[in-house]
Amino acid sequence: MSKRISIHGQWSSRLMFILAATGAAVGLGNIWKFPYLTGENGGGAFVLVYLLCIGLITIPIMMAEVLIGRRGRQSPVNSLQTLAIEAGASTQWRLLGWAGMLAGLVILSYYSVIAGWILAYLMRMVTGVFVRVTAEGASSIFTQLVTDPERLLAWHTIFMVMTIKVVSRGIRNGLEKVVKILVPMLFFLLLVLVVHAARYGDLDQAVDYLFHSDFSKLTPAAVWTAMGHAFFTLSLGMGAMVAYGSYLPNGVSIAKASIVVAVLDTLVALLAGLAVFPVVFANNLAAGDGPGLVFQTLPIAFGQMPGGVFFGSLFFLLLVFAAWTSAIALIEPLVAWLVENREIERIRASIWTGIVAWLLGVVTILSFSNWSFSFNFIGVPKRHGLFDVLDILTSSIILPLGGLFMALFVGWVMVRESVEDELGGLPGVGFKLWYFVIRYVVPAAMVLVFLQVIGVL
Ligand code: TRP
Repeated sequence: MSKRISIHGQWSSRLMFILAATGAAVGLGNIWKFPYLTGENGGGAFVLVYLLCIGLITIPIMMAEVLIGRRGRQSPVNSLQTLAIEAGASTQWRLLGWAGMLAGLVILSYYSVIAGWILAYLMRMVTGVFVRVTAEGASSIFTQLVTDPERLLAWHTIFMVMTIKVVSRGIRNGLEKVVKILVPMLFFLLLVLVVHAARYGDLDQAVDYLFHSDFSKLTPAAVWTAMGHAFFTLSLGMGAMVAYGSYLPNGVSIAKASIVVAVLDTLVALLAGLAVFPVVFANNLAAGDGPGLVFQTLPIAFGQMPGGVFFGSLFFLLLVFAAWTSAIALIEPLVAWLVENREIERIRASIWTGIVAWLLGVVTILSFSNWSFSFNFIGVPKRHGLFDVLDILTSSIILPLGGLFMALFVGWVMVRESVEDELGGLPGVGFKLWYFVIRYVVPAAMVLVFLQVIGVL
């Protein structure tokens, strides 16, 4: 069968795909969320489960998503539909693409708000607001910011404009140009911060905290959180990697590229832990502070250390880069779909998508000040606010479910020859092993974890 081509263009090389996909994967999830989730869930054992989920469940699914994209060469909705038709299956599989696009909007709506906090913090760091700040001082700066809708709105708007600007310029002139610079810079900044943390912070305690597994602290809910995070951090379960895969040149090994991206992403999360925790521990602060870890605990720590203004500013700059290269991937599937099905130009598609995500973000902003509330999820008392509802809805429910269905689609629906053809680079046993994992191991493992969480097992 002749290969399809994408109307949106292609990555100019394998490296560009790797940079773009790594940019999508490395985000607030790695640098903001992973350290605080680890802190909330007791450290080492959580990290171990997360690593297991990455290796066993999400890397195979990443390959599956990229493969769907490259075979279909369209937005996730249309790729799924085309491949389903090819396999004689129901066209309703496109709903999986729809769920993903909606999840992207929802994630972007709160992602952009947090990115707004980060921009605001970058300003404060640079201007030395946190120098020798006390715990009360840091917490009041944080509270003042998150309960000030006007200020948040301004930053949220700026971030959304940054995102739309890149996406509207397309694959080669927009996405590639940005990731080519930001992703290498991101790694460089992170290394500088880890070296600094190792010199001035308590590295031993941080390493012990991250890698010493105490299974008594591991609840079933924590296992589910770790698995959900494995999907979130690799940007899986919602079609983003399908979209990026649809621009992948033929002949590039999907297996190798996916593994490189997953390893880089995991490395960033662990390095982020090694940049954050030594600084936190050296100042006798607590690791279990939740989302405030990076916004309340860390500024205190930077405020007390030599060169704190400089390194603190680098840290928030790093977060801006990470958030930006992810935000563009969050709306790319929807923009691609609008261009394909509504036949509008990319620029208009990007603006419309941005407006909708912006409006949703406004709701999140208001939820911090005017509409806060508390709720429980599978026995874990959660913090409050719409933000948590959106976070749980996406990372704990939609992404794992979406990922499971992607695996089922590739394993049980798609024509086996197409699958094998796309993974051409895999030696015989490699393909059989991966196919077995996608068909049996991934679904079984996910169902087992789920049964355990709801208390059936
Ligand atoms: N992986 C991103 C992070 O770690 C978050 C994310 C989830 C994402 N799904 C995505 C980013 C889809 C881009 C596209 O922060």
